[in-house]
Amino acid sequence: MFRNDLLKGKVAVITGGGTGIGFNIGMRYGELGAAVAICGRRENVLSEAVSKFRDAGIDADYHACDVRDPAKVAETIDHFMDHFGHIDILVNNAAGNFISPTEKLSPHAFDAVLGIVLHGTIYMTLDLGKRWISTGHRGVVLDIVTTYAWTGSGYVVPSAAAKAGVLAVVRSLAVEWAKYGIRHVAIAPGPFPTEATRKNLFPIPEIESRIIERVPLRRVGRMDEIADLAAFLVSDNAEYLNGSIITIDGGEWLKGAGQFNHLENLTEEQWKMINEISRRKD
Ligand code: HXC
Ligand code: NAP
Repeated sequence: MFRNDLLKGKVAVITGGGTGIGFNIGMRYGELGAAVAICGRRENVLSEAVSKFRDAGIDADYHACDVRDPAKVAETIDHFMDHFGHIDILVNNAAGNFISPTEKLSPHAFDAVLGIVLHGTIYMTLDLGKRWISTGHRGVVLDIVTTYAWTGSGYVVPSAAAKAGVLAVVRSLAVEWAKYGIRHVAIAPGPFPTEATRKNLFPIPEIESRIIERVPLRRVGRMDEIADLAAFLVSDNAEYLNGSIITIDGGEWLKGAGQFNHLENLTEEQWKMINEISRRKD
C-alpha cells in the first residue's frame, strides 16, 4: 500500500525489535527503505533478527540493552549514532507483562514492568530527544501502548499503570517538543498473538478464544496490519499527526464500553418480543 521508498534515508531505532511486533515493524520499515537498529536484552535473539533483516536486503544493526538502565540506553544510542550517523525514528516497543491477581504481586514485580515500559520509554525518549534538540534534528517517536492504557484492566495492573504513564508522556511531549520538530504518536493494539503473549498472557487456550469472542471483527490482528500502520505514522506523509493514539483492535475496546453491546446475544424471537413491548401504546 506504500511507495517502496516511503522511509528511504531514515534510520529507525526499535526497542524490543528482535521479536514479535517490533520485529515485524522493523521488517516493514526496512522494506520501505529505512535502516533498522534494534535493541533488547538477549544478544542471540537480536543477532538472529539482524541476520533476517540483512537476508532481506535491509541495512540493520543491533546493540544489547536493558532499557531500564539509563547508562546502557546512552551507550546504545551512541552505538547506533556511530554506526548510522543519524537517527530519525524511535519506536518504544519493548515491554514486559504477565497476568496475575494483583494481590499476589510483589513490589519487585511492579518495578520490573514499570521499569521496562514506563522508565524504559522515558530513558530512550529523553536521551534521543536531547540529542535531536541540541542538533536541531527533526524526529518522530512512536510508542506502542495498549487499549487498557485508558480503561485500565484487572490482572495486568503493572502494565496498565505503565502504559497509562506512557500515554501521558506522548500527549505531553507532543505539545512541548513540537517546537523542535519532534512528533509523538502512539499505537494501541488489541490482540496480536506473539510468542510472548501466548506464554505470558494467553497461556491457556481458553483465554485466547475468549479474547477473540470480545472482538467485533471476530479475529485477532495480523502483523502486516500493525506494521503498515506503524510505517504510515512515522512517514513524512503523517507530518500533521502529533499526539494521536491510533487504536487497532477490530473494535474490541469499544465493544466493552458500549452499555448495550451485549445485546448481540439476543435471539430473533427475543427481539420480536422487545419490539412489541417497546411499541405498545399504554
Ligand atoms: C507474578 C511475576 C511473574 C508472573 C515475574 N514475576 N513473572 N510475578 N507472575 N508471571 C515477578 C518475579 O517474581 C519478581 O519479583 C519480579 O516479577 C521480577 O521478575 P524477574 O524474572 O526477575 O524479572 P525480569 O527478568 O526483569 O523479567 C521481566 C518480566 C518478564 C516482565 C518479569 O516477563 C519479561 O522479561 N517479559 C518480556 C516479554 C513480555 O512480557 N512480553 C509481553 C508483552 S505483550 P520477586 O519479588 O519474586 O523478586 C503486552 C500485551 C498487552 O504487553 C495486551 C495483550 C492483549
Ligand atoms: P514481545 O515479543 O515480548 O516483545 C517485547 C520485546 O521487548 C522483546 O523483544 C524483549 O526482548 C524486549 N524487552 C523486554 N524487556 C526489555 C528490557 N528490559 N530492555 C530491552 N528490551 C526489552 O511482545 P509483543 O507481543 O511483540 O509486544 C510488543 C509491544 O506491543 C509491547 O509494547 C506490548 O505491550 C505491545 N502490545 C502487544 C499486544 C499483543 O497482543 N501482542 C497487544 C497490545 C500491546 P528481550 O527479552 O530480549 O529483552
